[in-house]
Amino acid sequence: MRLWGASTSRSLDPAFERLNASLPFDRRLYPQDIRGSIAWARALARAGLLTLGECDAIVTGLDAVKAELDAGAFVFQFTDEDIHTAIERRLMECIGPVAGKLHTGRSRNDQVATDLRLFLMEVWPQIDHRLRELEEALVAQAQAHIDLLMPGYTHLQRAQPIRYAHWCLAHAWALERDRERLREAYPRLATLPLGSGALSGTPFPIDREGLARELGFLSISHNSLDAVSDRDFVAEFLFIAAMIGVHLSRLAEDLIFFTSAEFGFITLDPAYTTGSSLMPQKRNPDALELARAKAGRLVGHLVGFLTVLKGLPSGYNKDLQEDKEPVFDAVDTLEMLLTVLPGLVRTMQPQPERMRGALEETILATELADYLVRKGIPFRDAYRVVSELVEESLREGRSLSALPLEVMRRYHPAFDSDVYGALDPEAAAERRSISGGTGRAAVEAQIRALQARWNRSLQASPCSQEIK
Ligand code: ARG
Repeated sequence: MRLWGASTSRSLDPAFERLNASLPFDRRLYPQDIRGSIAWARALARAGLLTLGECDAIVTGLDAVKAELDAGAFVFQFTDEDIHTAIERRLMECIGPVAGKLHTGRSRNDQVATDLRLFLMEVWPQIDHRLRELEEALVAQAQAHIDLLMPGYTHLQRAQPIRYAHWCLAHAWALERDRERLREAYPRLATLPLGSGALSGTPFPIDREGLARELGFLSISHNSLDAVSDRDFVAEFLFIAAMIGVHLSRLAEDLIFFTSAEFGFITLDPAYTTGSSLMPQKRNPDALELARAKAGRLVGHLVGFLTVLKGLPSGYNKDLQEDKEPVFDAVDTLEMLLTVLPGLVRTMQPQPERMRGALEETILATELADYLVRKGIPFRDAYRVVSELVEESLREGRSLSALPLEVMRRYHPAFDSDVYGALDPEAAAERRSISGGTGRAAVEAQIRALQARWNRSLQASPCSQEIK
């Protein structure tokens, strides 16, 4: 049964009916749709449009329909265009004509926008929580190996020694920014469109603030025409999801390199790798490769949906039905990745010998230049002197610290016997005690800063905010 048009209207081409239907995917919104409808029925009763008895009948009926849906006993019909239509049709079958009063002053346009917002309002804290779990796993690695050094890279070339903990935390901070984005976007998401009707606002005296409070929204929309076609919250969610995807992909890429035999810096727990069907010696980092790849579909959802939005005229257009599949897929993709990666990170094992072995001395060339700087030599001159010295050491096949002092002095008279102290990776790392640097105290401070934000973000949880 279709809920629009006169009963005499001609039937639809089944092929079009299939194109038009969103039920195959929007059935996932049934809990939100029923919550929204119950709140709407109560608001209608408060506005005097339903008697208490009618309201009770509708609420009880909706609960019964929900029970059928929960149990998988709900029978969908081919003509159920979408979940909203299906639920209303079933309500009608269960409680009779009084069901026809539920849609008073409401349109599927404000209804569907409300449902999808409610859905994402539930997803938000779940993603937030999982991101934090991954951050915690990275912090646990950092704390367990606080003094472990490894080469830091630029252009994938060994650049300067850094703490392994510093590398772990670099990824944690990126995820923390994603949590911040969720927090900042939440008030815009939690804005209630219900009461907007099809486009111009419902003509009945509905208490929209009360409705918002009942459904957990923080505020109500201010323009009904905007409210029914506003999908900024979808685009923002897809952006945040894409950004998380990019961060996970970059973490995965680092780990794919670091776990390769060439680097050998980290080993993965075998629970996160697969074997090769042909080569018995191989363990493939499939979990990481999939994490790297999934960013592609997340970015695709964002670009695809912005393209749907860009040319739409004011008001609701059926194009907007295309908002749901990318949202659901992004939610599922993130859920999958963020349940695997914390375990992978928690169980991975850094390999100190391999990391230390990669700290060959040319990585300390900057230290030599800084040594000269401390003796008053301008950095550009120091840089040139040290480049020549590095060339000499490569030519002679000797490490920098194996170059005798008189050789060094040939390049610059300011070199003294204390120069060899500059060529120590530990000391080099420790010299970076500036905040944000890789020195031990600075790294410990960043762990505390991150943990303080975890606590702060909990207290500032959007759900505790008062309605504006
Ligand atoms: N299934 C529709 C969607 O997902 C619901 C809104 C339909 N509104 C309408 N005017 N046809 O967007």
